[in-house]
Amino acid sequence: MLHGQCRGQIDHVAPLTLTLACLTIQYLFFFYMKANRTNSPEWNCIHTNDSATMFPTNFAWGAATSAYQIEGGWDVDDKGPSIWDTFCHEGGRLVFEGQSGDVTCNSYELWEEDLRCIRQLGLTHYRLSLSWSRLLPEGITQHVNQKGLRYYNKVINDLLASDVLPMVTLYHFDLPQALQDQGGWKSPEIAAIFDSYARFCFETFGDRVKLWITLNEPYVCAKLGHEDGIFAPGVKEPGMAAYLVGHNMLRGHARAWHSYNVLYRAKQGGSVSLAINSDWAEPLDPASPDDTAATERYLAFTLGWFAWPLFVTGDYPEVMRSSIEVRSKELGYQEGSRLPRFSKDEPSLLGTADFFALNYYTSRRVKQGECCPGVLGLKSDQDAEGVVDPSWPVCGVSWLAVVPDGLRKLLKYVKDTFNNPAVYITENGFSQVGPVDMEDVQRCGFYHDIIQEVARALREDGVDVRGYFAWSLLDNFEWADGFSVRFGLFHVDFSRPERPRTAYRSGREYAGIISKYRSQTMVNT
Ligand code: BGC
Repeated sequence: MLHGQCRGQIDHVAPLTLTLACLTIQYLFFFYMKANRTNSPEWNCIHTNDSATMFPTNFAWGAATSAYQIEGGWDVDDKGPSIWDTFCHEGGRLVFEGQSGDVTCNSYELWEEDLRCIRQLGLTHYRLSLSWSRLLPEGITQHVNQKGLRYYNKVINDLLASDVLPMVTLYHFDLPQALQDQGGWKSPEIAAIFDSYARFCFETFGDRVKLWITLNEPYVCAKLGHEDGIFAPGVKEPGMAAYLVGHNMLRGHARAWHSYNVLYRAKQGGSVSLAINSDWAEPLDPASPDDTAATERYLAFTLGWFAWPLFVTGDYPEVMRSSIEVRSKELGYQEGSRLPRFSKDEPSLLGTADFFALNYYTSRRVKQGECCPGVLGLKSDQDAEGVVDPSWPVCGVSWLAVVPDGLRKLLKYVKDTFNNPAVYITENGFSQVGPVDMEDVQRCGFYHDIIQEVARALREDGVDVRGYFAWSLLDNFEWADGFSVRFGLFHVDFSRPERPRTAYRSGREYAGIISKYRSQTMVNT
């Protein structure tokens, strides 16, 4: 039901429904032909002998999930409630058919089933998130839930025993409700509280976990959770709260990174970053200065908002700050900048990412915004409109135009703009809606194409890509879309208590991709 609203950037699917429908049919046919060129639909349907597509030996082949989306067990074994528990239970209207993550894949009980899937894919890495309120029911380290600790210790130990390296996200949208009750991410105190939680996790799991993500997609928490109010905690304060939330998330991240740097790096030797989501964006009309400027703003208000402080200046992109100032003046807004400033007395932001963690799903062509002069809001500050090119197939959720080469362009942009960092693609995926299709040839084609684009970014553009994590290992609770949208490499039957997991054809395809490239690198080293 919230399709098209879920990503704040999607405003305008071009009104060429007929053309789109035709293109979608062509696309389906193309994938059908492509998938059926394979003699065996089984575990190895990759067709390339192109040695230029080789990956480095230690390339991370991963899949990702997050705690609230898969674990279930929302109130068992002393877990405290999170804002998503509250949002689903009390704001049920906002989630597809009033669904919730109360049980979802039940990974809290069925972790070993997930491990079986991970092993079946041949992953080298698995990205999971910790439920803060499962570990610390009130969000603070004074009360540690030993059962939660035991669960994550088992998960991490089982992964390592299976030769799979964990990448652990400390926060993936699910703030302990107890902290929300004290103001949540809008409160300046949250940065220090997040830092204590992060230290607790580094101390407890850091002997075994070497790849850390502090926060997943602060843009989504800020915009969808505090501007649009369509994600937990459902705050709707346009043009105000999102900037404050983003700011406090960055402050919390910086403190956690500095804690790791000072207290743990020497003995644990891991790396810490922040996962930033971004569309690829290019001007609708490349010859138009207005569209070019709008594209710059579009990227500044998503990728730049969180990447600039970490990688470029320690502050927000200048164009973001100036756009907000201009709009504030127009509106006669008197109370100082709506975009907060970082204090010199706090740990600095610049340099607080050991790698670039990038979540990429889709692309947009951008033109100057048409919306809302006189309206206080992020969209009006940004003044840029993202449009889906009619030649791009839109698959599953309506915001997800499938543009594999957008990833390559975005990777090149990250290399050029952020001083050639090591990059992990920490999420990327393709969704399915409607009747389940286990022989998901479109998604097979998608994974094949996107991996080729990653290979080109590595080999032809010289981007230092270290790994790729497919979203997602399992079908799961897709936030406001509930269970209506399936991103999994494994199908989960949510109608049965045992929640059986079954590989889609795309799961087998991805396993084949991994096995092929891993064996190539082994032969060539
Ligand atoms: C989030 C995931 C989500 C995926 C697909 C990302 O924004 O990190 O939790 O399921 O997109 O919507």
